Amino acid sequence: MELQVKTDIAERIASISVSSTMRVAAEAERLRAQGVDVVDFGAGEPDFPTPDNLKRAAMRAIEQNFTKYTNAGGTLELKQAVCERHAHDFGTAYQPSECLITVGGKHIIFNLTQALLNPGDEVVIPVPYWVTYKDVVNYAGGKCVFVETDEGQGFTLTAAMIEPHLTPRTKIVLINSPANPSGAVLDREEFEKIYRMTSRRGILLMTDECYCHFLYDSEPFSIASLPGAKETVLVAGSLSKTYSMTGWRIGFGLAPAPIIGAMLKLQSHATSNPTSIAQKAAVEALRGPQESVEIMLAEYRKRRDFIVARLRAIPGVRCSEPKGAFYAYPNIGVALKNGISSAMQFAEKLLDKAAVAVVPGEAFGTDRHVRISYATSMHELERGLERIHRFIVEQ
Ligand SMILES: Cc1ncc(COP(=O)(O)O)c(C=O)c1O
Repeated sequence: MELQVKTDIAERIASISVSSTMRVAAEAERLRAQGVDVVDFGAGEPDFPTPDNLKRAAMRAIEQNFTKYTNAGGTLELKQAVCERHAHDFGTAYQPSECLITVGGKHIIFNLTQALLNPGDEVVIPVPYWVTYKDVVNYAGGKCVFVETDEGQGFTLTAAMIEPHLTPRTKIVLINSPANPSGAVLDREEFEKIYRMTSRRGILLMTDECYCHFLYDSEPFSIASLPGAKETVLVAGSLSKTYSMTGWRIGFGLAPAPIIGAMLKLQSHATSNPTSIAQKAAVEALRGPQESVEIMLAEYRKRRDFIVARLRAIPGVRCSEPKGAFYAYPNIGVALKNGISSAMQFAEKLLDKAAVAVVPGEAFGTDRHVRISYATSMHELERGLERIHRFIVEQ
């Protein structure tokens, strides 16, 4: 009898899908390898090099043989640096015992959902949402409850939009401001209202602060700075975009100590510590000069102004102005005709016919938009927008 090897994949994996942003990157890479001149607006990744002082800190770490395991939850030095920077920037008062260092910002979101969600627990997520939220909540057995926002209002969220979606099963409300993919920024007063609404009910408020330093019209703010907020607020942080160090994989969480302890248990069996060398670079990032952040922000602002004006110049295309992060999220509904019936098909055809990579809105919960990352050079933006314009007009 023929041996049946049990290679069937676990059912829980079926509840998630491959990250569409990564799928677009892979497809663009494949075309490039074939010699196609692709303009890539897919990657959500700063085009600036990692600052030199961070690189030097990493090299020093290697030279000094800081190349072994560290504490699974990160070094005390880095936890202190995270708490200090958060206190300096936002006026919070976290202790290292309320901090966990993770393998990138994605990892803290994964850890938080794994540590907190029981089957059926509801997580309120505003739409459009960052692609990973849905999958990590599903993977943890939780239930996503999506809250629509209004494109006409720049996808901004209000407490009144969230309130009808809260139920006795709501465990977490997840906010990402500035948001990926829309660039929407939650008004401070509304954020505070949401905090009061959730904390009153014992609901946790998760704030993904991945883009918190990239704001065009307002000052950086953390909801965790409100008096008493530490009890119910979960901060998911990342150094990836702030310090242009996506490949180094350093993120962090700030949360009540028992939740940190639960995540540490999981992390100790899954990844152990984030890379020792990257942790040394992260300490330098947080304690060293901060000018690189300002320089990047000024450049992103120029690009934001260019891309919004350029997209609006395409007949029928609408684009709300991003107030933070580095993504534009235009409505390309006007091009959904002649055999293209979804943003997914639009993105496929655009890549195939015009060699421009964008991420289709389906990944973020809407089907008439695409995400364009403007963390790329002005030259690439000009070339890519020209191609998109021509593609839509000729469509
Ligand atoms: C909204 C948001 N949160 C978190 C992350 C995580 O970043 P990383 O895992 O690279 O630190 C990203 C990355 O694209 C993001 O867009």
